[in-house]
Formats: sequence, structure tokens, C-alpha cells
Amino acid sequence: MARPTLALRGISKTFSARSGPVHALAGVDLTADARDFVSIIGPSGCGKSTLFNVVAGLEAPTRGEVWIEDRRAEGQPGLVGYMPQKDLLFPWLTVLDNAILGLQLQGVPTGEARREALGLFERFGLAGFERQYPAALSGGMRQRAAFLRTMLCKRRIVLLDEPFGALDALTRQEMQEWLLALWDELRPTVLFITHDIDEALFLSDRVYVLSPRPGRVVLEVDVPLPRPRSYHTLTQPAFGALKATLLETLKEGRACLRAG
Ligand SMILES: Nc1ncnc2c1ncn2[C@@H]1O[C@H](COP(=O)(O)OP(=O)(O)O)[C@@H](O)[C@H]1O
Ligand SMILES: [Mg+2]
Repeated sequence: MARPTLALRGISKTFSARSGPVHALAGVDLTADARDFVSIIGPSGCGKSTLFNVVAGLEAPTRGEVWIEDRRAEGQPGLVGYMPQKDLLFPWLTVLDNAILGLQLQGVPTGEARREALGLFERFGLAGFERQYPAALSGGMRQRAAFLRTMLCKRRIVLLDEPFGALDALTRQEMQEWLLALWDELRPTVLFITHDIDEALFLSDRVYVLSPRPGRVVLEVDVPLPRPRSYHTLTQPAFGALKATLLETLKEGRACLRAG
């Protein structure tokens, strides 16, 4: 059997803070195959962003292994595309120059990087805003600009950390549909963090639910809803059944938080 594109084996992470150790993750196992869309859902503070920092090679795990195809990847940045929770657009750079930052970090000369980025502004709904500054963009456009930066790096695995968390409901739904269309076109393997159950189900092939801190996988569900998906997907009985399962699991987690 072919190796999964991404495999996490027993990832644990403990931070040493002044007040003592903080156990953020406790033995997370997760796999994603080529072109999978996988979501990770869990309560605030359960270690989701920490997990992405580990996969992106920015934090070393305390224990466990990160496999990217045939390689051990702990502590190795640059192997995956990563859009962190904050969009990190620099206000003093134009949208175009923000978009090419990742390429420049890879050593691509500025002129070439700009040419490559300009070819994608239309597809990312940013045409006409190339020379504007981030302050001129709406929330959805900011997210698309940050996403453009991530996608320009052309990695087969892309990590998206709550990209739509700050958007209003309507923009969010539009962005979800836009993201699915783009994913269908480019087909990277996507790992997507959200704390929105509907969003996780609407987008994903598989959803992992993490427990409250220290995060570990308490549920892994496949989402066999047909694609392409639209807002009709949200009203299908199968969608409702999956949603109930996820809600129940998250509620049990909260109950154990209160008990602890
Ligand atoms: N660099 C760090 N040093 C100490 N504690 C940290 C650090 N980064 C994250 N944490 C703690 O680890 C836990 C998980 O954080 P995080 O991964 O950001 O959670 P989530 O993204 O699920 O909300 C939190 O309690 C957070 O305060
Ligand atoms: Mg987070």
C-alpha cells in the first residue's frame, strides 16, 4: 500500500512556561492521502495551532514523528505550505509584494516572483488590487491574499489555520465554495483547522476531533457526501447525522473539561 502523503505518529508537545509545563498535545495520530481535504476541529486551546507548527517544522515535537511522503520531517521548515491563524499581511507592502514573500524566501528573484503572482490575481478575486495596500482589502480579500501567498509556494501539502474564523457568515460561505473550487482545480492535500462543525463537514473528506488540552484525537470520521458540494449539502440527512455525531463528541469533551 502506498504511504500516505502526510502521517503524524504519536505527536506530543509540552511547553515549559514560567508557571510550569504546559501539555499542549498528547499523542496525536493523523494521516492524509494525496489530494485529501482533512479538517481538524477541537475546542480553543487544545493545541491545533501547535500541531500545525509541528507539521510545518517550526516547533519540534516533544515526542512523535512527522512523515511527509517517505521523509521524516520534524523540525524541517519549508516542506509544506502554511497559512497561519493570523494572516500576517505587512501593511507597508503592496498586496502584490505581500503575495510574493514566500517565493522570495525560497530565493526566487523579485521580478520573476511578481510575474508569477500577477498571473493568479484574477483567480484569487484580487484583480485590480495588485498595487494597493492591505488596508484597502475586505476581510475575505485579505484571506485570499494570504492564501495566494501560500499557494504560490506550490507545496503538495497546505495547512490552513482557521482561515475564515473572522469573516461574517455570508462571506464565509462564499469563501468556502471558492476554496473548494480552487482545491478541485489544484488538488493539494489540505489540512484545515476550524472550530465550526458545518465548515469542517462541508469542506472535508475526513474530520478529526481533538479533545480539550492536551489535545489528542477522540474521533475520526469520513465524510462521504458527494462532490461538488453546494449549500444544498447542508440540508442533506447524512450531513445532519454527521453533525450530530461531532456535536456530541465536542460536548462530551466540554463536560470532561468542567469535571477536570
Ligand atoms: N510557545 C508557547 N509557550 C507556552 N505555551 C504555549 C506556547 N504556544 C502555545 N502554548 C499553549 O499551548 C496550548 C495550545 O495552544 P494552541 O495550539 O494555540 O491552541 P489552539 O490553536 O487549539 O487554540 C495553549 O494552552 C497555549 O497557551
Ligand atoms: Mg489556534
